[in-house]
Amino acid sequence: MNITDKFSRKLRDLRISVTDRCNFRCSYCMPKEIYTSDYKFFKKTEILSFEEIIRLTKVLASLGVKKVRLTGGEPLLRNNIHVLVENLKNIQGISDISMTTNGVLLSKEKSILLKKSGLDRLTVSLDSLSNERFTKISGSKYLPSDVITGIENAQTSGFENIKVNMVVKKNINHFDILPMLDNFKNTGCIVRFIEFMDVGNTNLWDKKDVFSLEDILRTISEKYHIKALQKNYSSEVAKRWSYDGGEFGVISSISNPFCGDCSRIRLTAEGKLFTCLFASNSHDIKKLIRSSESDDVIKNYLLDIWSNREDRYSETRIVTDKQKFNKKAEMSYIGG
Ligand code: GTP
Ligand code: 5AD
Ligand code: SF4
Ligand code: SF4
Repeated sequence: MNITDKFSRKLRDLRISVTDRCNFRCSYCMPKEIYTSDYKFFKKTEILSFEEIIRLTKVLASLGVKKVRLTGGEPLLRNNIHVLVENLKNIQGISDISMTTNGVLLSKEKSILLKKSGLDRLTVSLDSLSNERFTKISGSKYLPSDVITGIENAQTSGFENIKVNMVVKKNINHFDILPMLDNFKNTGCIVRFIEFMDVGNTNLWDKKDVFSLEDILRTISEKYHIKALQKNYSSEVAKRWSYDGGEFGVISSISNPFCGDCSRIRLTAEGKLFTCLFASNSHDIKKLIRSSESDDVIKNYLLDIWSNREDRYSETRIVTDKQKFNKKAEMSYIGG
């Protein structure tokens, strides 16, 4: 079954946040001052079990979902995450399973388990190759070399074309754009530069901190000859280019929004469904899953949610003060 929303957009992708916890404290996502040792993360009983996630994914697959991405927080903090991957992989209709991770827990053993479980693709976040800037941005005890080791372990286990996400902030790490491309040149990794987004309410987003698509391309063109590439698939968030060394991408949700073909639904660790990364309201699917209702009832509920969807936040952002101060879900909660 293929369902569409109010703007004729299909339902194709499911992003699942498997935990709200993270071993990093990136300033643009989980600022240290807010996510302190007193912060109340969800308890084990509050988060969806693997069985519950699998059941919901089966129903969503029957409505058209084909791709699943596991996120967090940090998804590798969830015990036995490879078991979830293995089960999702067996669902009829699901053709692609990927994960977005900060990479430092990608040990050799973990990478092998993930590969064997059927994980198709990996995306690793890395914002700077400078020890000083990395520790400052990530708010962690780790170094860029720990992330690189994780990437290499994953490559050795058979993961190809690993994507490397760099969130670019003006005057914080924009000078790392060229070093990142130099470093990942001819490694098969695809670096993606992401405009700093106004997700949540805690990262003190300000437009003046955004290093835009145009700024990024100007910077890269100073050193490399670049050529635009076609999209891989219609709802892809990244625009793609080739350079002498491989491919890179830019995710420009601020300067060039891509709501027009957005086919993504998001599930939080505690079982709330969001139809947009920036939505203020969610749907409590856990309540339904933990009741005695049948899969058909859940299916009709999801159908109703998607049919009534009219989100296009990035295309309309900050047009009114009201929107500016709306309460939005935090990145580590909604999963990016
Ligand atoms: P693939 O294209 O399947 O490789 O995945 P992806 O690029 O969508 O996943 P990833 O987790 O790497 O996300 C890259 C960036 O795009 C992150 O900053 C996400 O928050 C952002 N992003 C993903 N989907 C959306 C979306 O629907 N809207 C907006 N505004 N940003 C998104
Ligand atoms: N703006 C842009 N990207 C962000 N990410 C986390 N917070 C933000 C933000 N405010 C990125 C992470 C990860 C992906 C899921 O989203 O670095 O790579
Ligand atoms: Fe953790 Fe990723 Fe958020 Fe950084 S961006 S705090 S690694 S979830
Ligand atoms: Fe989709 Fe919302 Fe992102 Fe637009 S802002 S692309 S509707 S998630």
